[in-house]
Amino acid sequence: MIKKAIVIATLTLLGSTAVQSADLFKPDDAVKYRQAIYQIFAAQTGVMGGMSKGDIPFDAAEINKRAMNIGTVAPMLGETYFPATRDVKGTKLKPAAWSNMEGMQAKGEVFGKALGELIAASAEPDFDLKKARPAIGALLQGCKGCHDDYRAK
Ligand code: HEC
Repeated sequence: MIKKAIVIATLTLLGSTAVQSADLFKPDDAVKYRQAIYQIFAAQTGVMGGMSKGDIPFDAAEINKRAMNIGTVAPMLGETYFPATRDVKGTKLKPAAWSNMEGMQAKGEVFGKALGELIAASAEPDFDLKKARPAIGALLQGCKGCHDDYRAK
């Protein structure tokens, strides 16, 4: 069920909420809000990456919690992507996103799938470091896959 919710959330990343959210948020604030969500992502993956590398002791429950945290805030991203945010100073969203929303959405789906799989796998009793490494790696690839194409340096 969680998996399904995340897939739906990523599908609506640049979706139909656009009209309403433009009425609710000033473009500058929406970009700050968006970047803050990505900072939450980074804090969670920082812990997971640390465990993956062996810098932090492995803890399956902790990984599950971090993955769930990402799943909790990820659906909020959608409402931060409305056209008036395009020209905000400080946004690193590449203009390519606006001309190829399907492309960016596809990256969101790859990411959402990896996240859903990590949430499911890390809830299993046999989830160990050997299983965690590739699952966390896939999630991080999901971040990178989108950044490579849609985030400016
Ligand atoms: C579907 C695309 C996509 C995915 C998936 C994605 N990001 Fe990003 N990320 C972006 C874009 C676009 C920006 C730039 C947003 C802006 O500045 O308006 C960004 C910005 C960021 C930032 C900088 C925020 C700031 O303060 O300016 C961090 C950190 C970040 N992402 C981390 C992550 C992590 C970690 C993941 C994976 C867990 C991830 N992102 C997944 C597209 C994505």
